[in-house]
Amino acid sequence: MLNCIAMCGIVAYIGKKQAKNILLDGLKSLEYRGYDSAGIAVLTDDNRVELIKSSGKISELEEKINTLVKKELVTTANDVSEKFTSLVQERTYSALETSNCGIGHTRWATHGSPNDTNAHPHQDSSTNITLVHNGIIKNYFELKEELEREGVEFRSETDTEIIAQLFSYYRNDELSNMAALRKTIKRLEGSFALAILIADVGEKRILLAKNQSPLVIGVGDSENYVASDSSTVLQFTDKILKLKDGQLVELTADSIKIQDIEGNDIKIEVVQSVQTSSILEKGPYKHFLLKEIHEQPVVMTKMLAEAIRDVKEPIQIFNNLDFKFAEISRIVFVACGSAYHSALVGKYLIETWAKIPVEVNLASEYSTNPALVTERDLIIGISQSGETADTIAAITNAKNHGAKIMAITNKTDSAIYELCDPNNYVTPAGIEVSVASTKAFTSQVMSLYLLAIKIAEDLRGINLSEIKAQLRTLPLIVEQTIERAETYMKTCLKFSNYRDFLFLSRGVNYPIALEGALKLKELSYIHATGYPSGEMKHGPIAILDKNVPVLSIAIDGNTELERIIYKKTLSNSAEARARMSPSIVITTDDNKDVEGIFDEVIRVPNISQIFSPIIATIPLQYLAYYIAEDLGKDVDQPRNLAKSVTVE
Ligand code: M6R
Repeated sequence: MLNCIAMCGIVAYIGKKQAKNILLDGLKSLEYRGYDSAGIAVLTDDNRVELIKSSGKISELEEKINTLVKKELVTTANDVSEKFTSLVQERTYSALETSNCGIGHTRWATHGSPNDTNAHPHQDSSTNITLVHNGIIKNYFELKEELEREGVEFRSETDTEIIAQLFSYYRNDELSNMAALRKTIKRLEGSFALAILIADVGEKRILLAKNQSPLVIGVGDSENYVASDSSTVLQFTDKILKLKDGQLVELTADSIKIQDIEGNDIKIEVVQSVQTSSILEKGPYKHFLLKEIHEQPVVMTKMLAEAIRDVKEPIQIFNNLDFKFAEISRIVFVACGSAYHSALVGKYLIETWAKIPVEVNLASEYSTNPALVTERDLIIGISQSGETADTIAAITNAKNHGAKIMAITNKTDSAIYELCDPNNYVTPAGIEVSVASTKAFTSQVMSLYLLAIKIAEDLRGINLSEIKAQLRTLPLIVEQTIERAETYMKTCLKFSNYRDFLFLSRGVNYPIALEGALKLKELSYIHATGYPSGEMKHGPIAILDKNVPVLSIAIDGNTELERIIYKKTLSNSAEARARMSPSIVITTDDNKDVEGIFDEVIRVPNISQIFSPIIATIPLQYLAYYIAEDLGKDVDQPRNLAKSVTVE
């Protein structure tokens, strides 16, 4: 139904410096939000807008700009429309090189292919209004039809163009720019962060508006930066102003005027950020993915240092919640992708230690399910980005049914954080740049260990000091596992040429089989499926032959139940080997049972089953990485994906 652009990053700059390079640098650090097309527009001193868009990554936009600049050619907005005559005008490129006011956008297309026409910025028919948008306009069709009846012609297939056209329409009513923008915003249903250039006004300015999509201003000295996340503006200034939903802004180089949707002035609250943007640099690593794999021991150490000061004391996090666990009769996790897999680990741990029923739902299913939610339910959304639309919708659905809500996220400046405030746990993983989740996933799993202990101790009046002591050893074991990367590489590269994989495990490691399969699919584009080992014989076994490797996670445990899980996993792997499937097992150093049985044995340091999910994840991250590298895939930005999935 929707024909729109949704998951994107936007930037803007107004000040004394050259805007073009700031916009391009900003877009590069926002590329994790979408990377199938991009564009920038600058306002010239003689009140014109120069606009360049390109399908592909920011590097392709940059190349196009450089080529045009070299040829002394700058295209106008109209050159990209198939419907409109191509108009490539020969001009000087000085505007692009000298302008100190502009906006930019990097896109992830939903509907409407990622071509130049659908790329942002978009303009109204008069080309006086030029804007970039992150979000979805849900009532796009109605508004478009309404404007078409008024004779407005549209160029692109996007929902964004409607905003430019509608704004332009209301400006014709001789309203002030801010009044016309307010009127426009009131008509929009959905999410938006907007940055708008207006060509036909004297003083240069940028208008902003926000609802549900993030927007941050970086306040400089006679200059202002704008971006979809604070890390991007932190490259330029540490004075941050986070906009709230319903706010509209008029920005010049020297002033920031904020109003609410009714036109009332709002006090500006600038904060000095203590964060730095160094997290956005690759350092010595070839890919962000590798860097983020290596960051895992540090993230875990930080987390555990904060949560467990003394194993005899209660867990120190999850203390600022506005409810008590004793008020809860059921926990329901809602999450997507890797975060969903972490929730499945969480279910196992909470049910084992806290003895309280836990449900795990894919957020996209839960959000449209008239769930039997009660006030005694605690709905926990897990989302590294804090922006995943499905997860937002699922939490909102539960909240509307009266449930208590809570979130585990990486980002304080996110919609999910705001929605669940004060019931948030923010992992110390920081921003994850590589699209495939590594450190975010393992930190989610670790936070669920801590949550399970916290709930168990609160509800059962016990102290799980031994479990806490065990957890504290994990960062070192993760580090030791990462040190084995080269050994893993040799094994992994033997499997680059297979087209299908099956990943199996049981119990607490079943979700890790799912995660391993997702990682391989996402990075190498090889088809991979994760299954509970016991389920293989109920259908998937039919696909097995010598061309379908089966990877099993088989880690022994201490309790009777864990031993049963381990043994059953091994016997299910034998069923796969009997079908001639190349067999791989992830197991511990001390395991002798697997010798001579599996074709390949991937060893991790000794660890007991219940604590093994994070450790078993590491070789799976490397499996996906080395195969993707070997196949020449785009490791940090796999095709068709984006880091923040802000569309339902
Ligand atoms: O930002 P979120 O944690 O809500 O994202 C959820 C999924 O989109 C995400 O985990 C995705 O599956 C990863 N790219 C997997 O590596």
